[in-house]
Amino acid sequence: MGRKVTKWPDKGSGRDVLYPSEMTIFAITLTKVSSMKKISALSISLAVIVLSSCGGGADRQTDTSLEPDHEKVTQKAPSAIEAQLALGEKIYKEKCVVCHQADGKGVKGAFPPVAMSDYLQADPRRGVEQVLNGSHVEMVVNGETYNQPMTAQVDTKEEALAVINYVLKNFNGFDESKFLSLDDITDIQIKPRE
Ligand code: HEC
Repeated sequence: MGRKVTKWPDKGSGRDVLYPSEMTIFAITLTKVSSMKKISALSISLAVIVLSSCGGGADRQTDTSLEPDHEKVTQKAPSAIEAQLALGEKIYKEKCVVCHQADGKGVKGAFPPVAMSDYLQADPRRGVEQVLNGSHVEMVVNGETYNQPMTAQVDTKEEALAVINYVLKNFNGFDESKFLSLDDITDIQIKPRE
């Protein structure tokens, strides 16, 4: 069947094709007029059905390309490592910078460097123990001797791991494969606070 279009009397609209919705309105008007003229309303209604099923079917298809893509909106939760490093950074900035400095290089003769520290890199577990229980020994760090006391800095193993892993990554170039975990420090005892 050929596509049927209805010629609209020229009203200067520049368009001479009738769309289905217009056809319906047109048909209803016709129905009213025709019933006045005592023409069978049923035959006009049938004509409407035929007209609307022949024309403009494609216009009614829904465009789905504009629907939001819900999967792209989902945000990625930070990993356990990212969360630990964020905690470590917070602790370092709150508690350690005053002595070991923002760049981790310490103060020569008083506070040893934690950045590229041969002493820390040789035994990171010892570093965890030192921030948990404090340290007062004579130590040589990168060729300099230090013997000032460091008091206990954190109260839990989670905090100690977070700040030491942060120092290892941020100031010593360690990657995550060399990070310490709770399993590595099960034997470390937290000494009672004075
Ligand atoms: C009041 C100053 C002070 C603060 C605050 C402090 N430290 Fe220390 N830190 C020292 C001193 C002094 C030593 C040397 C201790 C010794 O000789 O036994 C030291 C030693 C260390 C060492 C071992 C030596 C080295 O440089 O590798 C590490 C690791 C360390 N501190 C990490 C930390 C971390 C992490 C924090 C924060 C949670 C911290 N320190 C806070 C003064 C401080």
